[in-house]
Amino acid sequence: MASPVAAEWTRKRPPTDTATPPRDSTALVLADPAPHLARALEDSGHTVTRWHRILVPGQLCTPWPPPGLFGEAWVRMPRSSREAAMLLHAAAARVADGAGVHLYGANHEGIRSAARHFPPGTDGPRAVLIKRRCRVLVATRRLTPPHPDGLGSWEIRSPVSWGTGEREWTFYPGVFACGRLDPATALLIDCLPRIPAGARILDFGAGTGPVAAAALERAGREAEVVLLDTDATSLAAAARNVPGGTVVLGDGISAVTGPFDLIVSNPPIHAGRAQSLRTVEELARDAPGVLRPGGGLTLVAQRRLPVTRLLERSFSDVRAAGDGGPFRVWTARGRRRNPRPHRGRPDTGPTAA
Ligand SMILES: C[S@@+](CC[C@H](N)C(=O)[O-])C[C@H]1O[C@@H](n2cnc3c(N)ncnc32)[C@H](O)[C@@H]1O
Repeated sequence: MASPVAAEWTRKRPPTDTATPPRDSTALVLADPAPHLARALEDSGHTVTRWHRILVPGQLCTPWPPPGLFGEAWVRMPRSSREAAMLLHAAAARVADGAGVHLYGANHEGIRSAARHFPPGTDGPRAVLIKRRCRVLVATRRLTPPHPDGLGSWEIRSPVSWGTGEREWTFYPGVFACGRLDPATALLIDCLPRIPAGARILDFGAGTGPVAAAALERAGREAEVVLLDTDATSLAAAARNVPGGTVVLGDGISAVTGPFDLIVSNPPIHAGRAQSLRTVEELARDAPGVLRPGGGLTLVAQRRLPVTRLLERSFSDVRAAGDGGPFRVWTARGRRRNPRPHRGRPDTGPTAA
């Protein structure tokens, strides 16, 4: 809903209600996968540059917004406060003094208290449209924002530990389990299978890379690890944390080239706020096609989810490899001769596995 509301504001705003008349008719839109705002800006004569950290096919997706100076900048309210501050900084660094920096989002995303995330040097964030439980906030840039422009200024270093000890880890705002090791990830690392020397390993949904790093440690020097994720900013952290790995931006097995001896994953089980097993289902369907004979998939998820059923559609040997709290680790091996169809809407219900 927030993108249509922001679009509505661009159509109805009086010229005097923009922070200042834009220096030029270029606009930067950050982190909005919905097309409404960009289209509305284009309809009103703007040249729009869209940037994403999460993969949107066919669009610019990089760890940090592109350089340049724009007439105005727009930020779609992200999930975390720190990420909102980071993106507003990047937006304010890309407009001239006097230009408008906008933030828009829904009440449940925290937009009502989001004015505090604008950087020092932007004046008076104010709500210019409140509608359908969404808001559009506008502030005027007066000064260059204080942090140097670049992802490096937002690096969070925090210790994380698993079996082999503690290490300093790089996170950036908005990554999964920022500043800590997720308990499901810790269980997956504890339950990693024996990994043969020289193995090729895929970490599907690698995030900042803890599972890939642990798998590499276990496998020894000759192993190779590929870290696949849809989030370019997470992969920038992963590249620092797992310098020996290869990071790949992509949203499915088709983005990588097999064969692999092992696929490990703490997969996403949400699409937005709703639970969705779509990615797990696609992983279960596609993994056998890139596994070497004898290779396997090891993944972690909440025990109550119907993961066994999804894996058994493609694999002949599916087992629970460990339980911890609400989580379970599964291993799946052996390609099913006649895979059962993965069809219709993926299971999302809380049925027992
Ligand atoms: C539960 S997190 C796990 C991250 C990391 N492996 C860890 O354990 O800390 C899931 C990760 O999957 C990524 N992701 C979401 N959809 C994906 C997809 N279709 N393909 C690959 N990765 C995806 C998310 O960006 C996120 O980093």
